[in-house]
Amino acid sequence: MANIAVIGTGYVGSVSGACLADFGNRVICVDSNADKIESFKKGIVPIYEPGLDAVIERNIKAGRLMFTTDMAFAIRETNVVFIAVGTPPAEDGGADLSHVEAAAREIGQLINSYTVVVNKSTVPVGTGSKVSAWIRGELEKRKLDIPCDVVSNPEFLREGSAVFDFTHPDRVVIGSDSGRARELMKEVYRSLYLNETPYIETNVESAEMIKYASNAFLAVKISFINEIANLCEKTGANVQDVAKAMGKDGRIGSKFLHAGPGYGGSCFPKDTRALARIGRDAGEVQNIVETTIKANESQKLRMVRKIEDALGGPGSVTGKTIAVLGLAFKPNTDDMRESPAITICGELIRSGALLRLYDPAAMKEAAWRLESFRGAVCFASDEYDALEGAAALVLLTEWNQFRNLDLVKVKKLLALPFFFDFRNVYKREEAEKAGLRYFGVGKR
Ligand code: UDX
Repeated sequence: MANIAVIGTGYVGSVSGACLADFGNRVICVDSNADKIESFKKGIVPIYEPGLDAVIERNIKAGRLMFTTDMAFAIRETNVVFIAVGTPPAEDGGADLSHVEAAAREIGQLINSYTVVVNKSTVPVGTGSKVSAWIRGELEKRKLDIPCDVVSNPEFLREGSAVFDFTHPDRVVIGSDSGRARELMKEVYRSLYLNETPYIETNVESAEMIKYASNAFLAVKISFINEIANLCEKTGANVQDVAKAMGKDGRIGSKFLHAGPGYGGSCFPKDTRALARIGRDAGEVQNIVETTIKANESQKLRMVRKIEDALGGPGSVTGKTIAVLGLAFKPNTDDMRESPAITICGELIRSGALLRLYDPAAMKEAAWRLESFRGAVCFASDEYDALEGAAALVLLTEWNQFRNLDLVKVKKLLALPFFFDFRNVYKREEAEKAGLRYFGVGKR
């Protein structure tokens, strides 16, 4: 089993650290944020991720997992160092690597023996060699020649099922040119390796590209079905039937063919923009990805137009109250990063609507993200409270709790009977039977 340090206890770092410990490794998680570390030590997990607290507690108790702010200690005790710091989008659409650089330099200042540095953060293709150079630069300043290999090991975690995804991955990708580093990585992932999880070894650049290409492909798939949905509305086809039949083709597959209000989250928007940037910088414009980015933006705005059109055309939402259910970018998370709800709520408010909002987990997050619209939003106590006196119900995130609404009650609570089901959770017939005027995505 390996001795591992994980730098950064954000989403990726905390899940990776906890699960690597669960595999039997000894893991030290480091973060400069002392409050965060104190919270983890007490077993309080500052992010909403089902099951993560139990994994952390179990591994702290077993003595395999610890949290510290002491980077020197973490580096001294370990020979595999994961970089899992944030790579927020830079202004030019690329990724801001300043935290990665700071971590790499610190590693270079601290290592005393052979170390494998593993890049877990999503970084542009070519960052692996930059990380090597930053570490070597610091070693040169120390006049030391300590061997060190950089490995790219991208994550494919979905928020809400990150623990499961980490422990049951479709594949593990290891990018490295060093045999020594590859052997050590096999130790790190020993339990998966022995379980015959597909284990792909390649060079650093390919591993970095795999991450972007995978996420961009999924984003393309969603945008593709969203555009087909828009065409279905014009032609009388039903996108759910279309997607179902398409998905039965083994070459296409049924996943990520759910039409909706556009994709959001911490990965797809950021990674598609970063890939577009990498393409432009390399003189190989990624047309399909660039179009996907635009299609996703217009999908969100299209939802606003749909509401306005149904209520009577431009300006029709002015002064009306609209109930919005679901603010997180997807169910089972409190994360609202790039959530379609932000754009859609913002546009409705700009058009003069007043919003009654409810989300099972993202209310705290929404309070600050929608702070600038304070006068126009009201936070409801549950899904039915949100409907009280509203002219329309807009369902934006398919939380389980919204899948079984009592539609007769919904109709009674609403002032006007408009139901915009932008996740296609309900059947038109059931909504109409309850007296609602139903609008889905990609079906008449
Ligand atoms: C994604 C990838 O799935 C994961 O592999 C990667 O490492 C990180 O990004 P995540 O962002 O957590 O994970 O969520 P995901 O479940 O993939 O959903 C992304 C967005 O796409 C959500 O806004 C979701 O609502 C939307 N989506 C997804 C659709 O609109 N339709 C679909 O068919 C699938």
